[in-house]
Amino acid sequence: MNAYIPQVDQRPGERGGWTRERYGQGGFSHAIDSEQRRLGLMQSALDRHTRARFEALGLKSGDRVLEVGGGGGSVARWLAGQGARVTVTDLDTTFLEDLTDLGVRVLRHDVCTDDFPPGSFDFIHTRYVLVHLPDQEAALARLVEWLSPGGVLLVEEPSASSIVDSPHEAYRTIARAFCTHLRQTLGTDTRWARTLPVPLERAGLLDVALDARLPVFNGGDDEAEWWRLNLEQSRKAMVAAGLVEDADFEAAYRELASPDFHDLSLAVFTAWGRRAG
Ligand SMILES: C[S@@+](CC[C@H](N)C(=O)[O-])C[C@H]1O[C@@H](n2cnc3c(N)ncnc32)[C@H](O)[C@@H]1O
Repeated sequence: MNAYIPQVDQRPGERGGWTRERYGQGGFSHAIDSEQRRLGLMQSALDRHTRARFEALGLKSGDRVLEVGGGGGSVARWLAGQGARVTVTDLDTTFLEDLTDLGVRVLRHDVCTDDFPPGSFDFIHTRYVLVHLPDQEAALARLVEWLSPGGVLLVEEPSASSIVDSPHEAYRTIARAFCTHLRQTLGTDTRWARTLPVPLERAGLLDVALDARLPVFNGGDDEAEWWRLNLEQSRKAMVAAGLVEDADFEAAYRELASPDFHDLSLAVFTAWGRRAG
């Protein structure tokens, strides 16, 4: 059975039940050949903004920083280069192991179920992870507990609102099907990011703020290639589930490769707040 097909009770259109095993069993598995490249392209698109936000929030050498769901590891690597004492976690640490050479603590750790002692970190950062979890606010409560008094939580999450109404027909069709697929299989909530920063206030943080961006990309560029890899990893399962046909993928790939293509990617919501000192 394809591990990407929902295996729990679920009515059409509902979010799939999340399990620790589910993330990364189909598309997004670290064992897929293209996954390191997919994560690398995502890092190239997002890291500049992440670094600037850390700097604006006053990151300094010696700070204890937790990077949750570190993926390809570029943020943890940069943090270590700033002199931070870094812990990076993931369900799959395959692409993170090299970071131990830089003094980074690398842990296979599930943010939903595995713990840290309260007050362990001056900064906690997570990017494109919470939307995949079954209960974002429960995860936020855990992250806040792991912050030291005065510590800062920095959260960056994508919303699909900018892609599902694309004027490009093939991209729009595949984007909508992809969102349905993620919701039904991983349990991904492609709308939650747009509720930020209110969940951080509800979690008890102070000085909460938000920055939202609408990244633009062009046919044939790195972001277009990132989209192609996302889609290709999920293609078999999406076709098997009857969400779209192979022809829809081919049409979307033609748009994504065209020099005339110009559109928005996922909207990025970045929110931060400070634990009371
Ligand atoms: C979309 S990738 C983002 C990677 C990285 N944060 C970045 O922005 O470049 C999501 C990552 O979160 C990890 N992940 C998913 N669920 C997790 C969980 N419950 N606990 C820890 N990591 C998780 C995945 O294995 C994957 O590496």
